[in-house]
This record gives sequence, structure tokens and C-alpha cells, in this order.
Amino acid sequence: MRHVLRSIVASLLLHGTFAIAAPDESTKQACRDIATAVPGRVSYPNSIAYLSEITKYWSTALRDLKPACVILPKSVEEVSAAIKVLSKYPGVNFAAKSGGHDPNPGHGSVQDGVLIALREVSGTTYDNESNLAYIKPGGEWNDVIGALDPQGVAVVGGRLGLVGVGGYLLQGGISFLSAQYGLAADSVVGWETVLPNGTIANIDASRQKDLAVAMRGSGSQFGIVTRFTIEAHPIGKVWGGMRIYDAANADKIYAALHNFIPNGADDPKAAIILTNVDAVGGIRTILIFYFYDGTTPPINSPLAELLAIPSILSTTKARSYADLLKTNGEGAALLNSRISFRTSTIPYIKSRPRMYTEIAKKWKEITASYLTNPIHLTSKCSVDFQPFPAIIGKESQRRGGNAMGISEADGDRLLLEFQCSWALAADDPILYAMSRDITAWLDVKVTEWLAEDNMQNRYLPLFMNDAMGDQNVTGTYKEYAKFKNLQEDIDPQGLFHARAGGYKY
Ligand SMILES: Cc1cc2nc3c(=O)[nH]c(=O)nc-3n(C[C@H](O)[C@H](O)[C@H](O)COP(=O)(O)OP(=O)(O)OC[C@H]3O[C@@H](n4cnc5c(N)ncnc54)[C@H](O)[C@@H]3O)c2cc1C
Ligand SMILES: *[C@@H]1O[C@H](CO)[C@@H](O)[C@H](O)[C@H]1NC(C)=O
Ligand SMILES: *[C@@H]1O[C@H](CO)[C@@H](O)[C@H](O)[C@H]1NC(C)=O
Ligand SMILES: *[C@@H]1O[C@H](CO)[C@@H](O)[C@H](O)[C@H]1NC(C)=O
Repeated sequence: MRHVLRSIVASLLLHGTFAIAAPDESTKQACRDIATAVPGRVSYPNSIAYLSEITKYWSTALRDLKPACVILPKSVEEVSAAIKVLSKYPGVNFAAKSGGHDPNPGHGSVQDGVLIALREVSGTTYDNESNLAYIKPGGEWNDVIGALDPQGVAVVGGRLGLVGVGGYLLQGGISFLSAQYGLAADSVVGWETVLPNGTIANIDASRQKDLAVAMRGSGSQFGIVTRFTIEAHPIGKVWGGMRIYDAANADKIYAALHNFIPNGADDPKAAIILTNVDAVGGIRTILIFYFYDGTTPPINSPLAELLAIPSILSTTKARSYADLLKTNGEGAALLNSRISFRTSTIPYIKSRPRMYTEIAKKWKEITASYLTNPIHLTSKCSVDFQPFPAIIGKESQRRGGNAMGISEADGDRLLLEFQCSWALAADDPILYAMSRDITAWLDVKVTEWLAEDNMQNRYLPLFMNDAMGDQNVTGTYKEYAKFKNLQEDIDPQGLFHARAGGYKY
């Protein structure tokens, strides 16, 4: 029941038909009360502070959402004071925002509610005695890795340095280091969190095991996290960058991808993201982000087959990890478009080396009517094939496990991300619908493919960081019911369940 209003609002937002309303009296009063509790941190429409925050979203679509006020706390105490005020105003919606990279309207953004932007709750420190990094949610991965790299360590984190920190760590986080150490959230051992009742808690993975597992991949449902304590891992010079390929090589590339995926355990230092992009005018490009945790991939590396395929452009080289992440993010920083994400988790099916081509072809068919229209000049749709080897599950379990519930027994999988970028708000429904069409097609196809190979009952949980707002991500988690109960225990008033943005149990 408490879910219903939120879903209506979310679906209005997803369909781009959100009527411009004005904040109600209780929201305005909540803003004023927060301004009294944390003087100097609240800004209102048309002020420079307000405008500069609401224009800092990676997808330009989110810049259309106008909160009643923006809170820019500087400390955990200030976040707590704001939450305590909000708990007194049951009708007031709010959102927590770290980097603002989640492209779904109403997650890290809110229309007519209270936006708590964590930009100034940022900073990274490292304690070499305990090998723990203390990382606040504001800022971007470039800042975090830039601070750790000179000390010879890294944490499992973003692959494109411009991405935000808080949302990434709460929603799971796949990294170049995941085959070695699990998802980013798996290395988190402590969460300084403002709970729904305003209490500041230090959730400790060694003492609160169930809650710790829930904190790794449930998103924003248990409170606002103001500091993560994360196990660090050694890093030296790495090898990587991007290569762009002529689509004429597609068959060779997909064959090599198929051969790469089952090698997670043989060489967990190697990682890739393969992106197939279709742009207006039928132009297709394939690009691969490469990573090797060492100065050069060995001659017998599972990357060798891919690396032998000629590319049009290559930036791969030995460099610092910080430099790699920074360079990887530069293209994405320039997008300046409305963006959609939608995800699907599919199994690695040994007998189906052509499934990647089939998926890319179907996605091209679905998007063709939009992308062949020259009026949509700057639009693009892509699919990312992200190998998700079984060893990630093994590393996750070794650290106590995460909410996604992955384990080595699940076998090798791929996380697919379907992404589109476009210019006009009026086109939002078309682009969202195309994304829904491709995952609906996949749901049917994957079931068929698995049946043909007697591979039924595979565990295929959705990956929250790549999902669209209407995908029931947590509903695909094995332990959905357990986490739902835990969420209700910690949030009996439904403050985060019913009033804050993001995925819900
Ligand atoms: C260019 C690009 C590259 C990406 N690369 C990767 C990648 O390599 N691996 C990967 O896993 N994902 C990747 N992503 C996805 C990314 O992890 C998500 O978009 C993630 O949500 C970004 O984190 P953020 O801090 O910017 O989130 P925001 O948009 O700020 O927030 C996302 C959600 O988390 C909640 N939230 C944020 N901070 C807090 C907090 N401190 N406490 C409580 N709730 C909070 C928000 O309310 C919202 O619901 C990428 C995204 C982009 C745009
Ligand atoms: C931690 O760093 C300090 C200062 O650089 C150094 O003296 C000390 O030996 C280091 N300790 C460990 C355990 O590496
Ligand atoms: C999500 O999935 C769960 C588990 O199947 C289900 O109980 C729940 O009702 C679903 N939520 C929505 C909003 O559809
Ligand atoms: C706040 O919520 C937590 C988690 O449910 C609980 O342990 C704590 O006692 C609550 N604090 C107050 C002051 O109610």
C-alpha cells in the first residue's frame, strides 16, 4: 500500500508526463525547519546554490525535476538533523543524491520535495595499519582513486572515473577489480548511516551480518550513508584503455568475447566492457574498455584473442590506475543528453557463441525506426556486454555476501546494459518503450535458449546500478523476503520506503 503512491509518481515521471505542480505547504515548512536546524545549508529555487546543484545530473532529463529546496549538509550531524525534521512531516518526499549519475527520474532527484545533496560530504583517507579506506559519498571515483593511488592501494570502484561514489557503492558496483575481489560493495565493512529515525549508526559487518549483507546492493532503503569503511587492495601500474573497432570485425570480436567469458578464474586480473553502439544513419561501432592488473597482459592472457583483432583507435597502455579511470571517463563526461539505462542478466551459454550478435541485431531492429530519422541527429543506443564470471560470486561469498545473493555455484553470466541517449523530453516515452521491448524479448529468448541446453533454473538477479526505475530489481534477489522484513524493522514509518527515491523491497 505505502508503495502505491510512489509507483504512480515514478510511472508518471518515466512517461514524461509529470504535470508541473508546486511544493505543498508542509514541504515548504519542512524546508524552513531544516534551515533552522542547519543554518546556511538550505537553498531555494532561482538561487545560485540551488541551480548549480539541480543542473549537476549526468542525464539532462533529471535537471527538469525541481525540488522545493536543496540541502547541502557538510557533516553527518547535519544530515541527521535534516532527517529528524523530515520524520515529522509524513507527506514530504525527499531524495539523497551523491554523484547524480543514476539516470532514473526520482531516484537521486525529486520533484517538489527535499533534495539532500551530499556533494560536500566527501573525502577519502587511508589507514595503512588497518588497510582500511574511509570514503565519504560525495565527489567522484577520480577523487577516491586519486587519493589512494599514491599510497599503492585502491578500493574496488568505478571503471569510469567520473562516476559518483555513494549510489555506486550502495547499489553493488561492478569494477575492473571484481574478478579478484568481488563487487565494490563486497569490500565495504562499515557504513556510517543516518537511520530513518535520525540516529547516527555505525553499521559494522563483523557484528551486524544480516544488515551488512543488505547494505551491499539494496540502494538507499536503510538510511543515508555518510561514510563507507572499505577494505583496500594493493595496486601498482596497470594496463588498459579503450579500443574502437570497425563493425566489419563484429563476428571476430563476438567470437573472442565468447571465449573470454569463462576465463574469470584462470586470470582474474583481466577485465573488459564491450559496447556495441548504433548511431543515427546506421553507423555502428564496437568499443572495448580493457583492463589488466599488471603493466602488460601476458602473452597467454585470455585477452590475447581480442587484442589480436585490429582496431581503428587505441588508447591502451601501461599507466597508473588513477590515470586509466580518468581517461576512461572523458567521453562520457561530454554526453550532455537525456539517458536511459535498462538491464538484463543472462547466463553464459557455451553452445551459443552467436547470442551476442543476435542480441545486438535485435536491439538494432528495435531502435532502427528512431535512429534512422536524421532529425534525431545526436541520438545513440548501445548495449554493453559485461562479463560477470562465477568467481565474482566466490569473492563475494568469501567477504560475507551481498544483497544480490551471488555465489560461485551460479556459473558465468553477463550483465547487459541497454543505454540510449537523446535530446528531447517529448521522446522520453519512445526511448523507454524501446528499452522495455529489448528486455522483454530477451526474457523470452533466454528461457528458450536455456531450455534447449537443459540449463533451467539459473539464478539471474538484476544488477541495480544498470537498471531502469520500473525494473523490480530487488524482487529478483533470492532473499527478497528477508531483506524486506529487515527494511521494515529499521524503517517502521516507511520514511525511506515510501518517500525517498530509488529501488524498494
Ligand atoms: C558513465 C557511467 C559509468 C558507470 N560505470 C559503472 C561501473 O563501472 N560499474 C557500476 O557498477 N556502475 C556504473 N555506473 C552506474 C552507477 O554506478 C550508478 O549510476 C550509480 O547510481 C552512480 O552513483 P551516484 O553516487 O552518482 O548515484 P546517485 O545518482 O547520486 O544516486 C543513486 C541512488 O542511490 C541513492 N543514494 C546516493 N547516495 C546515497 C547515500 N549516500 N545514502 C543513501 N542513498 C544514496 C540515491 O538516492 C539514488 O536512489 C555508471 C554510470 C555512468 C553514468
Ligand atoms: C604506514 O605508513 C607510515 C608512514 O608512511 C610508515 O612509517 C609505516 O611503516 C606504514 N605502516 C605499514 C603497516 O605499512
Ligand atoms: C517485486 O518482486 C517481488 C518478489 O517477486 C514481489 O513480491 C513484489 O510485489 C514485486 N514488486 C513490485 C512493485 O512489483
Ligand atoms: C532508531 O532506529 C534504530 C534501528 O531500528 C534503533 O535501534 C534505535 O533504537 C532507534 N532510535 C531511537 C532514538 O528511536
